[in-house]
Amino acid sequence: MRRAVGPGRPLVGECSVPGDKSITHRALLFGAIASGDTVVQGYLESGDSRATIGALTALGVSVEPAGTDRLVVHGRGLQGLHEPDDVVDCLGSGTTMRLLAGLVSGCDFTTVLTGRDALRRRPMDRVVEPLRRMGARIIGRSGGRLAPLAIGGGNLHGIEYDLPVASAQVKSALLLAGLQANGPTMVTEPAPTRDHSERMLRAMGVAVESQAGRIRIEPADMLRPLEIAVPGDLSSAAFLVAAALLVSGSRLRLNGVGINPTRAGFIDIARAMGGEVTLENACESGGEPVADIVVSSCSLRGVRVQGALIPLAIDELPLVAVLGTQAEGVTEVREAAELRVKESDRIAGLVHELRALGARIEELPDGYLVEGPTRLHGGRVEAHGDHRLAMCLAIAGLVADGPVEIEGAEIVSESFPAFFDLLENLRQ
Ligand code: S3P
Repeated sequence: MRRAVGPGRPLVGECSVPGDKSITHRALLFGAIASGDTVVQGYLESGDSRATIGALTALGVSVEPAGTDRLVVHGRGLQGLHEPDDVVDCLGSGTTMRLLAGLVSGCDFTTVLTGRDALRRRPMDRVVEPLRRMGARIIGRSGGRLAPLAIGGGNLHGIEYDLPVASAQVKSALLLAGLQANGPTMVTEPAPTRDHSERMLRAMGVAVESQAGRIRIEPADMLRPLEIAVPGDLSSAAFLVAAALLVSGSRLRLNGVGINPTRAGFIDIARAMGGEVTLENACESGGEPVADIVVSSCSLRGVRVQGALIPLAIDELPLVAVLGTQAEGVTEVREAAELRVKESDRIAGLVHELRALGARIEELPDGYLVEGPTRLHGGRVEAHGDHRLAMCLAIAGLVADGPVEIEGAEIVSESFPAFFDLLENLRQ
């Protein structure tokens, strides 16, 4: 499907954004092994969450709607999952595959995980290698680097593991395995990554300690079921924040967005660029900090992003390039080679498509350099099967001098199905 987004009208008003994708995955997966019913309110209804629900169903877990916006996960306890009678399809979701690999490594049966072409090209050795060290028997293509993965689980022992890449998915996979291991598991992060798993596991009664980049988990007897209120997804809100910053005369309020500091790097980057972004009505909901984001259009300046900020804004870094096209001076992102192994190679795809719209952007092995401000022009671009690239290009369309037509725009349904409608409704 092709969607066109053109320049013009400012964005004014208020809205909420869909539920947080990372927290939705975790609520479903942890709920599945809790001892009783977990209620997930405000969950993300999207392609990615359907991947996790489908996989859990294959493992014998029942997940049911319970009124608007609510799901009930009938937890089967730590020993209660069933061997799936077929290959489990994780669709396009890396979070589903990696976290599930950790979960089923603790189960005394065989699970085969696969997914769509793009997911089968993404590196899985980052979870396979430490899970093997814990005692899981895993085979996969390319020596276990690529899915499909066949996982023979059970009989795990705790390990001490230094993560070679800052990845919340790998950390969470090891915590899920560690829950079911013999003895404690210790994971050391090279830089802090999103800590939703630690927060939710603690709320479920698991002994998880974090200190100075080391996370230690004790095996659990049971997980206490919860009522989880999922906050709005900052990674979705970020597109609307960027839109409001860029289109003159805009003012938006985004209600109830998760602002966990291990996720909120984009807000810091937008502010460092001179963006007027404020947080109001800050509170805590379900162990996660939440606030309304208020943002107005303003002029921006270039910024350099690297180091510990990278994992805190990893999914928003392509969007920073779009801001960079309209900012005064150079915007530079470095030490972000991880962007090359996301839903697409987000550095190559982004640079190629933004150039096609007239951006002055240069590809670096581990990031990009963009010079602004540039008047973008309209044109036809490609989403590369990547929901976040599709939304970045839509935001570029708001500041181009003609419509930007995005091929493959339907992929936004992986994380933000109502994106185009919401964008249109907010424009005056
Ligand atoms: C996620 C972690 C990040 C992020 C992804 C969701 C998670 O991936 O990019 O969209 O829910 O744990 P990595 O762990 O590969 O950095």
